[in-house]
Amino acid sequence: MQIFRHIQSLRESLDAERQAGKRIGFVPTMGNLHSGHLALVNKAKAECDVVVASIFVNRLQFGLNEDWDQYPRTFNDDCQKLIENHCDYLFFPEEKEIYPNGMDGQTRVVVPSMTDMLCGASRPGHFEGVTTVVSKLFNIVQPHAAVFGLKDYQQIAVIRRMVQDLCMPVDIIAGDIVREADGLAMSSRNNFIDSNERPKANQLHESLLWTKQQIANGQRDYLMLEAEAKSQIIAAGFRVDYFQICSSDTLMPAAEDDGRVTILGAMYTQSARLIDNVSL
Ligand code: PAF
Repeated sequence: MQIFRHIQSLRESLDAERQAGKRIGFVPTMGNLHSGHLALVNKAKAECDVVVASIFVNRLQFGLNEDWDQYPRTFNDDCQKLIENHCDYLFFPEEKEIYPNGMDGQTRVVVPSMTDMLCGASRPGHFEGVTTVVSKLFNIVQPHAAVFGLKDYQQIAVIRRMVQDLCMPVDIIAGDIVREADGLAMSSRNNFIDSNERPKANQLHESLLWTKQQIANGQRDYLMLEAEAKSQIIAAGFRVDYFQICSSDTLMPAAEDDGRVTILGAMYTQSARLIDNVSL
């Protein structure tokens, strides 16, 4: 695996791949790689000739009181895992390579729909930070396809919308959620869960599954289901951020006759914010 810290040299190598007719797949990450990320690398490998991963902990998508400085940096381990999973290129830029003019004056990419609800409501500015850095990374790598994990369901929906609105020639591919044995969705933030809370941290997933089953059984009182699921999470000792039954495409609250429904939730443990979703 070749590692690049600068845009110019990465571009030169990827230009040569493109000229040789290779299809380039891209997996943007913030590092601290787990099996979920590696599944995305493998998906990119299956669909493309060349795989580029990036590791960049993007300060622009973290709120002032969020965990940017505590976000785990595990570069050597990450490299080892990427090599074992046959990643071809790693882009690992410093902040000044991505934001040479600083962040305050940085041109932003704003997707106005779907970004002020759910995670966007509790993390103002988060999606603007994501779409800005993803646009920059797309411009740097110029991939044919990019793979994102479905755990961040809203993120993929917003990125798809950005790609459509800005006519970006990139196929957006969704990778399935990878889970621990008890159902907890894999996430770099799982490292922050206190050991005494970990046995119950799969409650969000349990409540999502319970809700999915109720809907499959024909229950259509979505407000009642959301309230009951929130009570289950609170009873397990956690604080609910949101728990909402949504229309899969628009992420608006689902109507009774919506054909495609996704249930999204976020909860706080003492020291981590966890998100998850299931679709029907
Ligand atoms: O999903 C993530 O890890 C980040 O939001 C991403 C897409 C790498 C942008 O920083």
